[in-house]
Order: sequence, then C-alpha cells, then structure tokens
Amino acid sequence: MNYLTKLFLSHLFILGFSASCFAACQHVQADLSPKGIEQRLAPVAKVTIGADLPSAPGTLGPDAGQKRYTANCAMCHTTGLAGAPKYGDKAAWAPRVSKGLDALLKSVVHGLNAMPPRGGCTTCSDEELSLAIKYMLEKIK
Ligand code: HEC
Repeated sequence: MNYLTKLFLSHLFILGFSASCFAACQHVQADLSPKGIEQRLAPVAKVTIGADLPSAPGTLGPDAGQKRYTANCAMCHTTGLAGAPKYGDKAAWAPRVSKGLDALLKSVVHGLNAMPPRGGCTTCSDEELSLAIKYMLEKIK
C-alpha cells in the first residue's frame, strides 16, 4: 500500500466515521427537539384542565358556584374590568339585583355589552351559571 492509498483510505475512514456520527447526532438532536420532547411527554403531560369541562348533571357540589366564579367570572368581576359590577360592591349590584335572578341569568347566557355570552364559559350549564351568579349575590346581601 503506497502512501497515497493509505491517505485515501484514512480519509475515507474519517469521512465515514463523521458521517455516521452526524447521523447519530441528528438522531439525538431529533429526540431533544421540542417536538421530540412533546411526543415523549405526551402520555404524561396530557392533563385535563377542569375549569372548562361541563359537569354531568347532579354532580355539582356545594361549592360549584364559587368554583365557576373563580374559574370563569372573577377575571372581570373582581376588578370591575370593562365596567363589570365588582364582586361585593353593593351599589354596583343594587340596580341589577332588582331585575331578578332569571333576568340576570339571561344577561349572562346571552352576554351583555362587554360580557361575552355565558360569561365566556361556553361549556358551563345554565345551572352552573346560575350558581355562579348566586355566589356573587350572596356577597352583597
Ligand atoms: C370579560 C369580562 C366578564 C366576564 C368573564 C364575566 N362578566 Fe359578567 N359582566 C361583565 C360586564 C362588563 C358586565 C356589565 C355589563 C353591562 O351592564 O354593561 C357584567 C355583568 C354581569 C351581570 C349583571 C347582568 C345584568 O343584567 O345586569 C351578571 C349577573 C354577571 N355579569 C355574571 C357573570 C358570571 C356568572 C360570569 C361567569 C360565568 C361572568 N359574569 C363573567 C363582564 C364579565
């Protein structure tokens, strides 16, 4: 084997080695990519967020209204965002309370000005919305 052949063969070897490394590294990279990680975590990470799940009838606990309020209504009604009557603000609620619960529920179901239909909770049942309203009204009694 002359020098040139040796040189050629060693280059070939290095080339082959780095090519296989490249392939191997790519493989590792693929696994560490966000998608690869996502795929690997998928079975573990698929957690269901309960806030927007419809509740089966008859399974509403005594704190269902509070839960709904916290999950779906508080973002506006705690701060008075966009003119929402604030939680616990008797003066803001007084003219509304006099409409009666049915009318208030209707406002929530259909939406009212800046309040989106169903207060934004598209999966809430009427009963849940009603409980959330009652929860707010309890505070200003
Ligand atoms: C995006 C903000 C927002 C969210 C979320 C929201 N509201 Fe409201 N809500 C408002 C605003 C603004 C008003 C006042 C509307 C008006 O009179 O112009 C209002 C008014 C109301 C009223 C009085 C209606 C009337 O007829 O006077 C009730 C009751 C009410 N909201 C209940 C709820 C409930 C229950 C939820 C959660 C399921 C909820 N809201 C979620 C913004 C919101």
